[in-house]
Amino acid sequence: MILVVGATGLLGGEICRRLRERGHPVRALARETSDPAKVQRLKSLGAEIVRGDLKDRASLDQACRGAATVISTASTTLSRQPDDSIGGVDQDGQMQLVDAARNARVGQFVYVSFSGSFEIDCPLRTAKRSVERHLQRSGLTYTILRPSVFMEVWLSPALGFDFTKGAAQIFGTAKRPISWISLGDVAEFAARCVGHPAARNAVFELGGPEALSPEDVVRTFEEVTGRHFETQHVAETALQEQWRVAADPLQKSFAALMLGFAQGDTIDMRRTLEVFPLRLGTVREYAKRVTIG
Ligand SMILES: NC(=O)c1ccc[n+]([C@@H]2O[C@H](COP(=O)([O-])OP(=O)(O)OC[C@H]3O[C@@H](n4cnc5c(N)ncnc54)[C@H](OP(=O)(O)O)[C@@H]3O)[C@@H](O)[C@H]2O)c1
Repeated sequence: MILVVGATGLLGGEICRRLRERGHPVRALARETSDPAKVQRLKSLGAEIVRGDLKDRASLDQACRGAATVISTASTTLSRQPDDSIGGVDQDGQMQLVDAARNARVGQFVYVSFSGSFEIDCPLRTAKRSVERHLQRSGLTYTILRPSVFMEVWLSPALGFDFTKGAAQIFGTAKRPISWISLGDVAEFAARCVGHPAARNAVFELGGPEALSPEDVVRTFEEVTGRHFETQHVAETALQEQWRVAADPLQKSFAALMLGFAQGDTIDMRRTLEVFPLRLGTVREYAKRVTIG
């Protein structure tokens, strides 16, 4: 049995789908407040639903019972309830889940963190690195996935990359390359890591097939759509100021993420792809998928 925490999220849901496709039994953690349509989708995949919350240790003990593997993608950055916080959920909640998994003698714990080159101080970074350390010291067999920027999130209208209108907001100079990765590829790595000997006590930095600057990305979208994109730049100095003055942990983390984006993130995937041969999705393919269909 594979317990997926974060199953109602974009990445967690895709991991569940791929695990079920491979015939794995999946237990999906959902909250009372989770979107019923997402819970229904998990049920229709054949996943067993368990109710729980990362803030509720007893529910995690219950959820881990009999699980051979735990995969956790949960985060409050985009999907949160009023009583959720980065400290209480992304940090303490994930650590509680590690403890519950250890008590339940789970065989492998796969944790979705973020890129190792993301070094800007903020509560989300503190949470991610603290959970990584806690997991590595737990005695559990661990796999830590450290993906770079998801194209489906950062190249989407929700974050100002509005390909439907041909308008793109860009953080920083637009010149620094990023190894954009497709969310589906992150899900694929997570699924392939389950029970894989090379994933035992391993940390994988995950990026896409090529490092493209935001400028290159805009050009790619223009080529694919045959349409000119209007770009609006948010200066790195403005992002630094936003990060410096932010008092709220979530705002501080968002500002740090935008600043990290502006500074670029290149990941060499050659060694990882030798272990997990996979044709990674490109930004051009993504652009075609979301604009032409
Ligand atoms: N976006 C990027 O570019 C990027 C890059 C690198 C790494 N990542 C990491 O990838 C993961 C993103 O996954 P995603 O896209 O699937 O996120 P998402 O769509 O925002 O989903 C978040 C999930 O966390 C769950 N959750 C939130 N608070 C919880 C709590 N208190 N107890 C239990 N579950 C809780 C949510 O459940 P509800 O549905 O009940 O709210 C939801 O299932 C995150 O860990 C993120 O840090 C993202």
